Amino acid sequence: MTRDIFQMIGSLDSDGVQRVVDRLEYRGRDEAFVTMREEYLSRLEIVPEARILDLGCGTGVVARALATRDTFHQPIVGVDFSEDLVAAATRFATEEGIDERVEFRVGDASALEDSDTTFDIVILHTVVSHVPDPVAVISEASRVVRPGGAVAIFDGDYASLSLATGEHEGDSEMVQAILSAVVANPYVMRQVPSILQEVGLDLEGFMANVLAEAGEVAFFLNLAESYVSMAIRAQLMPEDKAREWLNLYRRSVLSKSSFGSCNYYTYLTRRVG
Ligand SMILES: C[S@@+](CC[C@H](N)C(=O)[O-])C[C@H]1O[C@@H](n2cnc3c(N)ncnc32)[C@H](O)[C@@H]1O
Repeated sequence: MTRDIFQMIGSLDSDGVQRVVDRLEYRGRDEAFVTMREEYLSRLEIVPEARILDLGCGTGVVARALATRDTFHQPIVGVDFSEDLVAAATRFATEEGIDERVEFRVGDASALEDSDTTFDIVILHTVVSHVPDPVAVISEASRVVRPGGAVAIFDGDYASLSLATGEHEGDSEMVQAILSAVVANPYVMRQVPSILQEVGLDLEGFMANVLAEAGEVAFFLNLAESYVSMAIRAQLMPEDKAREWLNLYRRSVLSKSSFGSCNYYTYLTRRVG
């Protein structure tokens, strides 16, 4: 069975939803994460009339970042499965005074209501690792982008995730538990080249980043605290064991002996035609 916390947001209580929102927003502000995002966004040719879709937009981190640019005119469309996250995205955009520049709506990334060739650019930012059928989602991205348009796929290669307290066995058990609760497709970023061939997208650029912290980790402590709590709430992880490991990780951070790392990849693709 595919398990992924991002498929279960509708069944979380308000505290659970808030945790998801907080995690996405934390990540959206994290310096290393912002650098990776800006690096690939800067390689997209965004012409003034560009129509852009942020597919699986969550709280709208990417759409909101793009909406602050005045180099193109059309509102950016953000689509997400979760009503709660679409509501949060809309609220944040209003608070930031960019609500005229974005249109957030609920929708299924594997069955979009948009006509063929509606967009010039489609962005999938940490989405394909969390959906039940990544081929269907990338295929939809390919369908709704115009021939010659761009599809950018950025995600974690979560099979490379490492969280280390120094207790190797417990660490790798907990990483496996987190992955099986939170990431439906931990290997998908290694499969993208073959998926592109299936769905009519040409690979034009590939970027590889490693996000790693040693000693006093912050990004990975937030990841562990967020995902372990969400997984416990959703009863996807035995609580006692998970809390015990989390306390060990927190102590390793305090003693500056912790470690965390994950590879992130971007595929810059173009629709054939
Ligand atoms: C890890 S979050 C990424 C959110 C946002 N792109 C970001 O990076 O902040 C994964 C998102 O995919 C959304 N999602 C999962 N399955 C989906 C589907 N079938 N259609 C649309 N969105 C989906 C979830 O609701 C969640 O917002």
